[in-house]
Amino acid sequence: MARILITSALPYINGIKHLGNLAGSMLPADVYARFQRARGNEVLYICATDEHGTPAELAAAQAGQPVAQYCAEQHEIQHTIGRAFGLSWDWFGRSSSRHNRDLTQHFAHRLEKNGLIEERVDQMIYSHTDGRFLPDRYVEGVCPHCAYEKARGDQCDNCGSLLDPLDLINPYSAISGSRDLEVRDTRHLYLLQSKIQDRLRAWVDDKGAAWGPFTRSIACKHLDEGLIDRGITRDLSWGVPVAYQGVARSGLEGKVFYVWFDAPIEYIGATAEWAEATGGNWRAWWREDEGAADVRYVEFMGKDNVAFHTVSFPATLLGSGEPWKTVDTLKSFNWLNWYGGKFSTSSKRGVFMDAALEILPADYWRWHLTATSPEGSDSAFTWEQFAATINSDLANVLGNFVNRILKFTESKFEGQVPAGGQAGAVERALYARVDEAIAALTASLEAIEFRKSAQDVRQLWVIGNEYLQEAAPWTAIKTNPDRAAVAVRTALNLVALYARVSAPFIPYTAEIIARSVGEDDPSWPALLAASELARLPVGRPVKAPEVLFRKIEDEQIAEWMTRFGGA
Ligand code: 2FM
Ligand code: ZN
Repeated sequence: MARILITSALPYINGIKHLGNLAGSMLPADVYARFQRARGNEVLYICATDEHGTPAELAAAQAGQPVAQYCAEQHEIQHTIGRAFGLSWDWFGRSSSRHNRDLTQHFAHRLEKNGLIEERVDQMIYSHTDGRFLPDRYVEGVCPHCAYEKARGDQCDNCGSLLDPLDLINPYSAISGSRDLEVRDTRHLYLLQSKIQDRLRAWVDDKGAAWGPFTRSIACKHLDEGLIDRGITRDLSWGVPVAYQGVARSGLEGKVFYVWFDAPIEYIGATAEWAEATGGNWRAWWREDEGAADVRYVEFMGKDNVAFHTVSFPATLLGSGEPWKTVDTLKSFNWLNWYGGKFSTSSKRGVFMDAALEILPADYWRWHLTATSPEGSDSAFTWEQFAATINSDLANVLGNFVNRILKFTESKFEGQVPAGGQAGAVERALYARVDEAIAALTASLEAIEFRKSAQDVRQLWVIGNEYLQEAAPWTAIKTNPDRAAVAVRTALNLVALYARVSAPFIPYTAEIIARSVGEDDPSWPALLAASELARLPVGRPVKAPEVLFRKIEDEQIAEWMTRFGGA
């Protein structure tokens, strides 16, 4: 049994996430976690809300709430919606937890002991109108690299460059819009990334071999450009205080660590939260000297997060000089677009997780977003394509198969797994095809390839339909009841098999399917279809479920177009 630690990028606290956020980190991480649990591995899937920094402060101000209260409420909302989507987090934590505070302060202390932190007098933008410094997103302006007009002080959303507020051309305050700004001195801590550049390079050369070219190239680009020392504190009040063991650092009283310094540490912090709540041992997942050496750590994130996870966070971990677990496999995603453009939280463009569940059950979304995952390149959500995948894959191929065979069993075999007959040539051909398809599916999930794995599981459903077409129990029953019994028994076993292989993708429906044939074993099937398809005991009562998937009609598409926009 392997031990697999899984994290998905921590969603910002500032409001309910859209389908693009879901598709590019939390959902694929969940599919993978469910698959690995079914394989019998010990999985710990950790996520949390990313609660500090300017996004949180700005959103709280906009909501007219104190930031702590805003975060507490939004955390609950995101937690509830994530669970409703079937996200099987072992823990969904908060980066504002005391566990993360202590760990963040611990790392800063270790880095300083190792000569990797320096106090510098920095120049920062100060707003006279707002009466405060404007770190990161509090200032906006023109990107010096691509001339995008609304680049933020920390990053350009258009070209992805990491920025310093002073880089911006024609800056203005994101709070008041004021351009009455000046550059003032302020003291800050700097992480001397330049000093660990070589160690990071060696680490990327070693670990990066398993990341895939897309992720590796992002890491190498940053290393090739040469790492710059990075300010890791901010003139904000909400965040992890710049302190150690309860004592504020003199000269930096009232300041906090930069959100991108403490956020990835919350992967560890949330594991500590989990341990406290469950009696688990978080160090056995994170400290190589305490059991984590045999953990495989897999991270899921959008492409804009890759630099932070291949350079900045590893710099913190390696620079501490302590044996922390670092990422083994990093799966990154491109953008899921909303028609030709972007989903946007600020301008409320696209479908958000709460609205999605108001109109359809989670499995519809889970399936579509996995089957069209923005894996190799950006992909676009359209209602037409959504309807096409749901209607063809879920309603026609899977739903019909399950309903058809169970209804037939009810009407012709008293709703029981029938006895009689023996597997023949048609079944042997089926076993060979199923074996091949399960092997392909298992391999694509192990390789963390979602589009491919969705195709592979669909192929298994198709194989069942083709088998039923050929074995045609509705015809056989008139002339050869034993043959009909074999076909029905085999098809019912396929239903049971589908519940198991579909569960990572569509867990709610998989459970209904499993119950329809009296099964509750969630384990991943072995590559031995002959026995996997002879598991159901003869005589077991089975029952057709309610319609599993309703087809999406043109009128619904029209209605959603009006409600959510598109085209
Ligand atoms: O880009 C984002 O949505 C960030 N909140 C991701 C943080 S990931 C981790 F490092 F915390
Ligand atoms: Zn830019």
